[in-house]
Amino acid sequence: MAGREGDEPVVPRSYHGRTMVETVRSARRPWDRAGILEESSPQRLYLELLKGVLTRYAFGETKRLIEPAKGTRQRLLYLPVKKLLGALGVQLVRPVRFDRGAREIGIDWPPDAETMIGLTGLDMLEYCATDVLRLKVPGDFIETGVWRGGAAIFMRAVLEAYGDRDRVVWAADSFRGLPKPDPSHDTDVEDALWRYPRLAISLEEVRANFERYGLLDDRVRFLVGWFHETLSTAPIERLALLRLDGDLYESTMVALEALYPKLSGGGYVIVDDYHAVRGCRNAVDEFRARHRITEEIVQTDWARVFWRRER
Ligand SMILES: C[S@@+](CC[C@H](N)C(=O)[O-])C[C@H]1O[C@@H](n2cnc3c(N)ncnc32)[C@H](O)[C@@H]1O
Repeated sequence: MAGREGDEPVVPRSYHGRTMVETVRSARRPWDRAGILEESSPQRLYLELLKGVLTRYAFGETKRLIEPAKGTRQRLLYLPVKKLLGALGVQLVRPVRFDRGAREIGIDWPPDAETMIGLTGLDMLEYCATDVLRLKVPGDFIETGVWRGGAAIFMRAVLEAYGDRDRVVWAADSFRGLPKPDPSHDTDVEDALWRYPRLAISLEEVRANFERYGLLDDRVRFLVGWFHETLSTAPIERLALLRLDGDLYESTMVALEALYPKLSGGGYVIVDDYHAVRGCRNAVDEFRARHRITEEIVQTDWARVFWRRER
């Protein structure tokens, strides 16, 4: 996850000498050398509209559920109050300021939106997914770490838009949040994300989100459980698109080890947190060095990268 907790995301002010929002706006999609996202067609209009809706960029968000982190004193006080108010049909919410710049580059944790990867994250996903369809690269699409499902919903939408009838979208998650960090990975040890209830989204909620967009069918398959339990034995034959969004060193490494060997030549690996989370970057760099992967890493915004497997 590239984003930040809270309503006022801390956007680093300088990125190659300019603010990140300025950089992304002025140089949106310079990596789209094939001009895929320039095209104007009914499919692209549908996908553009979907980006605005899945991120809520199109209409903003004004309130957030109050949910103190696990293991805090506030949470002990909060749980009985939540239960009492719940029985009366009342939710604990507070007003939030909607930051369009943050949502554009996917740096905040949205109250309601189905994805936190922002417009730039969905742009590069569209680019990679459309390119493999255009070039007929064989294989399914997978996201490891789906949260509310938005990026995986978007993958299914790309297949629908371009009339693909064969590929499957795999959605892998614990559906109960991040694991407690394994102390043997020193970059993960301090990570507190497992404490955040708002990162623990149930399978029922994710299925309902797919359904909301008319995109839940037998070509969406859920891999439920910790990655180390599900990914290596998943009945996946081939992949054309591998989107990694599990944040931690361990989550990234387990996914690469289990799934990279199944990625077709011409397929893409997308890493959501390469420039945002040190553990994630270490896992990618170690994996690439160990397997002598030299394909160019392309940075598409402040956090996200992809590379295209050549061989
Ligand atoms: C940042 S969120 C993903 C955001 C999402 N891709 C989106 O479009 O907004 C990270 C997700 O990874 C999942 N996750 C992280 N590590 C995991 C692991 N080792 N096993 C299973 N799920 C994991 C969490 O449950 C969480 O839903």
